[in-house]
Amino acid sequence: MLKVEHLKKRFGNHVVLNDINITIGKGEVFCIIGQSGSGKTVLFRHIIGLLFPDGGRILLDNEVISSPTTKPADFDKVRKRFGILFQGAALFDSMNVGENLAFPLREHTKMTEKEISKLIAESLEMVGLKEEFKTKMPSELSGGMRSRVGLARGLVMKPEIMLYDEPTSALDPIMTDKINDLILSLRDKLRMTSIIITHDMASAYKIADKMAMIQDGKIIFHGTPGEIRESRNPYIQQFIRGQKKHHYAIADEDAYAVPINISKVKPRAVGPRRPVPAPSTENAAAAPSDMANKKFQMPVRPGGQNNQ
Ligand SMILES: Nc1ncnc2c1ncn2[C@@H]1O[C@H](COP(=O)(O)OP(=O)(O)O)[C@@H](O)[C@H]1O
Ligand SMILES: [Mg+2]
Repeated sequence: MLKVEHLKKRFGNHVVLNDINITIGKGEVFCIIGQSGSGKTVLFRHIIGLLFPDGGRILLDNEVISSPTTKPADFDKVRKRFGILFQGAALFDSMNVGENLAFPLREHTKMTEKEISKLIAESLEMVGLKEEFKTKMPSELSGGMRSRVGLARGLVMKPEIMLYDEPTSALDPIMTDKINDLILSLRDKLRMTSIIITHDMASAYKIADKMAMIQDGKIIFHGTPGEIRESRNPYIQQFIRGQKKHHYAIADEDAYAVPINISKVKPRAVGPRRPVPAPSTENAAAAPSDMANKKFQMPVRPGGQNNQ
């Protein structure tokens, strides 16, 4: 069990975490939601020992693993128990996929190359990639593929606790659904604990056993997805309704409970419709599914922008 108690962190005069309390049970899928800049990533970095608090502490199985007096080296003995998927996957660009996955194994274990090779194939398979993928370079991968490789690297050590910072933000709805199913099967088959930072409410509803919402460095909600839906706090209601429209408006909250059907995915319900941009950035990885849905393709005037 992981417990965050009265955690406080400031950068200069800026108080970022202000008395954070969270309890996460073994084998639980726990989602942390909140607006951009609310302190989610800073909290994440405390849990994995990249930052240490000014006040409060973090306990893992009743043992203090982080407090104002903890040194980075003190954290080393528990670091291996955590697997991490950073925002944007954070792959080593100079290494191919296989080398990226082998890195933590070579660093932290005494496995033979043969054992490493086997585990790499297994981890790639877990995220739906063929073993041949290991020779690809990160620069050859789409946003969705990078996330999957990042996830495979996080899983290669078979961690007890897997942490994800915005795992689905660069993914299209189909890939998002696959990652969500994977998180659930890791819980059901391996009893892995997952801590997921997300602003994708549809995913949080689908996978979370418990969730916490953070606002201005404080926890303003801690409970089940059912309880957050019932919350009377207008700020929470506004957030959970607003976030569902962040990239796509999903026809109903259970849309992800059945095999994804592209016809349920509608473009943003608010604001003017714009032509679908070419998928030039990672975040545009969702564009092809819009394009597949001809109904939403906007006519483009020959030789010019479609200004409307
Ligand atoms: N290393 C740092 N130094 C100073 N300020 C920081 C640092 N890391 C984060 N912050 C600030 O802390 C606040 C919360 O950031 P963050 O946890 O990244 O938000 P988010 O909820 O979007 O993940 C932001 O105002 C950010 O500018
Ligand atoms: Mg963040």
